[in-house]
Amino acid sequence: MMKLFDSHPFFPYWRRLTQRGRDFLGSEFSIMCGAMTWVSDHSLVAGVCNAGGFGVLAAGALSVEELEQEIYKTKEKTSRSFGVNVILMHSQFQELLEVCARCQVSHVILGAGIPSEKVFRFLNDHGIIPMAFAPTVTVGRRLIRLGSKGLIIEGNEAGGHVGPVSTQVLAQEILPHLSKEVPVFVAGGVSTGQGILSYLLLGACGCQLGSRFVCSYESQAHPAFKQAFIRASARDAILTPQLDPRLPVIPVRALFNKATEEFIAFQKEILAKLDAGILEVKEAGLCIEHFWAGSLRRAVQDGDIERGSLMAGQSVGMIKKEESCQEIIQQLVQEVLDSGLFLMEHLDSFQEPAALELVA
Ligand SMILES: Cc1cc2nc3c(=O)[nH]c(=O)nc-3n(C[C@H](O)[C@H](O)[C@H](O)COP(=O)(O)O)c2cc1C
Repeated sequence: MMKLFDSHPFFPYWRRLTQRGRDFLGSEFSIMCGAMTWVSDHSLVAGVCNAGGFGVLAAGALSVEELEQEIYKTKEKTSRSFGVNVILMHSQFQELLEVCARCQVSHVILGAGIPSEKVFRFLNDHGIIPMAFAPTVTVGRRLIRLGSKGLIIEGNEAGGHVGPVSTQVLAQEILPHLSKEVPVFVAGGVSTGQGILSYLLLGACGCQLGSRFVCSYESQAHPAFKQAFIRASARDAILTPQLDPRLPVIPVRALFNKATEEFIAFQKEILAKLDAGILEVKEAGLCIEHFWAGSLRRAVQDGDIERGSLMAGQSVGMIKKEESCQEIIQQLVQEVLDSGLFLMEHLDSFQEPAALELVA
């Protein structure tokens, strides 16, 4: 697909800006499609990879056998490199990593916590490139020391589980400190090439998008789930509240519906069990995560958009139709190039008068 763009005047600059990200991912473009539980299966991942991006399988709700199958099916559909997202709290965490090693997966993206040095050592020793999420400069430095070879910073605008800080602020705060050490990808609220270029100029080596790919033809999400995305505006993607600081509730950004209300009632139930000593805090956290996984499955697979969770980022408002992964990525790259050219021409247009003023 690169050939489509190589006559564009901004092409050589864009190649240079993304060289590190492309080399790191082994993909044509440094555009990642982040793992989305129940959505990111072999079909979407292969679709993204074959369109020149980098897809990531979501292993958050898969068993060891299911992940192995998904990896094989992905490899049947694409010869390009792709990643697997494994979350630390998964009950078969180590076994999932072993499947990735056995199947020679190129990248593992570790989520939902800070992995131990042993985890990074296991992956590095097996020739797998580990990546992790850095919510602050300090945690990012620690992850690099522990063995992470790349980082993702994900802002509050994103869909799914999110931290408290916006993507723009995280990017400005973290990129100057960490982007020289390892490749850093920016996620959360990115949905256009203009957005991607802005983060490349801040020092990112690429971006990770999630919501934008939900409505791709290759995404197996239920048609009703996709339609809810196409209808929604940015302000519909809201955060779930935490009723009590004792509950380990990581806020989830999703389109408001009955599931949002039911989550509030569910928290009350869990709180009552905590008070009665029936549950420990850690168990309460697991119950909450199971709630989300089940609720998201109902929406994505069964199309229950009333009572299932419609996890979506604020960028959902910019999704207007179903498209192929190729169309999405092609449009993103075209926008990066056109906005880069706009920048070049803009700089050119005021260089001369400024130079004249200096001479005068
Ligand atoms: C439906 C949905 C499910 C998600 N599930 C996961 C997940 O299982 N693991 C993960 O690391 N991120 C998950 N995410 C976050 C995405 O990987 C990605 O980082 C995020 O969507 C980027 O923000 P955007 O939606 O604004 O593009 C999910 C996002 C959505 C929308």
